Amino acid sequence: MNMMNVKRFFIANVVLMGAGFMAHAQADSAQLIKQGEYVSRLGDCAACHTIAGKAPFSGGLAIKSDLGTIYSTNITPDKDHGIGNYSEQQFADAVRKGVLPDGTRLYPAMPYPDYAKINDEDMHALYTYFMQGVKPSAEIPPKTDLSFPFSQRWGMRFWNWAFTSDKPFQPIGGASAEVNRGAYLVEGLGHCGSCHTPRGLGMNEKALDSSDAKFLSGGSLNGWDVPSLRGVAHWNEQEIVNYLGKGRNDKAAVGGEMTSVVENSTAYMTDDDLKAIAAYMKFLGGNPPLPVEDNQAASATEAKLTVAKNLSVGERLYLDNCGACHFVTGKGAPGVFPQLDQATVVNAQNPTGLIHTILAGAQQPSTARAPSTLAMPGFAGRLSDDEVAQLSTFIRQGWSNKASAVTADDVDKVRKTLAH
Ligand code: HEC
Ligand code: HEC
Ligand code: HEC
Repeated sequence: MNMMNVKRFFIANVVLMGAGFMAHAQADSAQLIKQGEYVSRLGDCAACHTIAGKAPFSGGLAIKSDLGTIYSTNITPDKDHGIGNYSEQQFADAVRKGVLPDGTRLYPAMPYPDYAKINDEDMHALYTYFMQGVKPSAEIPPKTDLSFPFSQRWGMRFWNWAFTSDKPFQPIGGASAEVNRGAYLVEGLGHCGSCHTPRGLGMNEKALDSSDAKFLSGGSLNGWDVPSLRGVAHWNEQEIVNYLGKGRNDKAAVGGEMTSVVENSTAYMTDDDLKAIAAYMKFLGGNPPLPVEDNQAASATEAKLTVAKNLSVGERLYLDNCGACHFVTGKGAPGVFPQLDQATVVNAQNPTGLIHTILAGAQQPSTARAPSTLAMPGFAGRLSDDEVAQLSTFIRQGWSNKASAVTADDVDKVRKTLAH
């Protein structure tokens, strides 16, 4: 080899080594982007930052709050209209603390009080995904413009001081690694408490972690009761896993705001993560919220509907409109038609969820684990307020159910929210 060739050989080798190194780095970052995409599923970022017909994560969802309408922002890596200029630290501060690089405070419509518990490893993957795995979009979502005094974002400083904590996730002492994985997912990324924990006077979640018995003890969203997740005594672990992974189990189908959670987040969780969440809920334990099975009452209702004589208005309406799918047993068909006997939504203290389902119908989400979907038709056009009230009262008191009666007024209120 003359000098020239040695040089060439050397350069070629360096280039090759460089390429090898680059390929390796690319594989690493591809892996990290994938991991970050999964973390974004765990955090359900799409539920609020992606809307139909617009680029993913370009924002614009209108979130109605007690303060007024708050719009989600563009979190694509566009440098002018998104978060393309955010350093990892700035991104982490926005997500965990609700503080932007210029000191602006976010409203807690962005669930940063829960995201405070996201660990550094997940945050790093999340940042990498948003910077490298999401396409920039120049979309400019509507500006949030609340009325005074809520327009004064600096006020959030005090709210944050009073109601948030920068304590990282605290593992539950003595609990298994699986239960703690579930606790980490539920308390932090899953922000399940933002709906399932009761809210206090400041619209704050009354508890932010498992150390407090109010955590996940049930909340309320637009009048719709959000059930307690403490123990979920009426389902076994596999039934919880199926509900979250497929949007349905042998007894129930997902409805209301939970549908979007399943569709955008839990349906994408691995079996291990779903099992961890179920194990954690069982670990929490708690009061069985439902009426216990009452065989005598259940058989009496079934017998009356079967004979179909001397029926009340509610019973007649049930046979004519609902019995074909939910049956005289009120037990539906496992995995196909949910059961109404002992169902959470039927026995909720506030009947809004039941009334809403009867008026507007319900649609199961299509998930990878259960692609086929069934819909329940809405009855708003067919049944009057009084009829829906009598029907609902029958369902809430038929079989084992023992919930309060529903009035035409209750129905009227829900019907008005459907107008649009
Ligand atoms: C429940 C709805 C909701 C979810 C879920 C949600 N966000 Fe947000 N996010 C918002 C809203 C609303 C704002 C704007 C708040 C404001 O204007 O004060 C926001 C703002 C942000 C900002 C500040 C952007 C800017 O304008 O500079 C970032 C960053 C962000 N979100 C990231 C995320 C990430 C990452 C996830 C998932 C881990 C996520 N968000 C999940 C509602 C949500
Ligand atoms: C945006 C609000 C919201 C969030 C966030 C949310 N849920 Fe829900 N969840 C609901 C509502 C509303 C229902 C009642 C649905 C119905 O009536 O059909 C529900 C129902 C459930 C049920 C069924 C309980 C029963 O007894 O029927 C489970 C289990 C559940 N959620 C788990 C979770 C988990 C786990 C998370 C976090 C990963 C979560 N939810 C996050 C609103 C929410
Ligand atoms: C064509 C079949 C069909 C008819 C008729 C029907 N349903 Fe349903 N129903 C369904 C299906 C399918 C679901 C699950 C949809 C979902 O929420 O994902 C459902 C869900 C429900 C739920 C929510 C259950 C849960 O687990 O959260 C209630 C309550 C309900 N139906 C009540 C009624 C009442 C009352 C009537 C009569 C006015 C009725 N249904 C008529 C098929 C039907």
